[in-house]
Amino acid sequence: MKAETALSHRDMEYEEAEREFPAYTGGRPLQRIVYSAGEIGARVEELGEEIAHAYGPDDGVLLVGLLKGSFVFLGDLVRCIRRPIHVDFLVASSYGKGTTSSGEVKLLYDPSTPMRGQHIIVVEDIIDSGTTLNRLMGSLEARDPASLEICALLHKHVAKNLEYEARWIGFDAPNEFLVGYGLDHAEDFRHLPFIASLPT
Ligand code: PRP
Repeated sequence: MKAETALSHRDMEYEEAEREFPAYTGGRPLQRIVYSAGEIGARVEELGEEIAHAYGPDDGVLLVGLLKGSFVFLGDLVRCIRRPIHVDFLVASSYGKGTTSSGEVKLLYDPSTPMRGQHIIVVEDIIDSGTTLNRLMGSLEARDPASLEICALLHKHVAKNLEYEARWIGFDAPNEFLVGYGLDHAEDFRHLPFIASLPT
């Protein structure tokens, strides 16, 4: 095959995802594949390496995943962090069944792990309106951690009053309704191995 007609590895990844998604969605349409599984995996590996090198050997590092959306990202990310860490979760919910943020955050589970003197990394799947992080970070700060950082896989950069900046961002995401790799619409699509947008 000539070089100019050969599909790149990235294109093949996308084509594969395009072929396979109807099995995952039961035939429901997606607008487009935004990040393929391979592309996400490569970026998560980089994030894991950066996090591993950001702390001293004696630092206690605790990753706090915001559920449910971060469960796939967190699961992949922790396996790319080659240093000792602890893991816990926060459960908050701000979206109902619509495709825009409702602006309200409910705290449904609060981690019992002590945070005082620990280096906390809040792991988010996506920063959209910023409501979730604005609401949660203050209460984590009050627990007196040694440091408090955010690692978000996706950042839409549309939040108007974001009080906390993410130290690690996987992708600057388009302002579309994104699903897959943990992200849902009305609880559907979380299990897609790639990230796609929904038709408007
Ligand atoms: C989603 C997503 C983020 C948050 C981002 O969570 O997982 O946590 O919204 O949006 P924001 O920046 O506008 O606050 P959701 O509340 O839908 O719950 P989920 O994690 O269970 O999907």
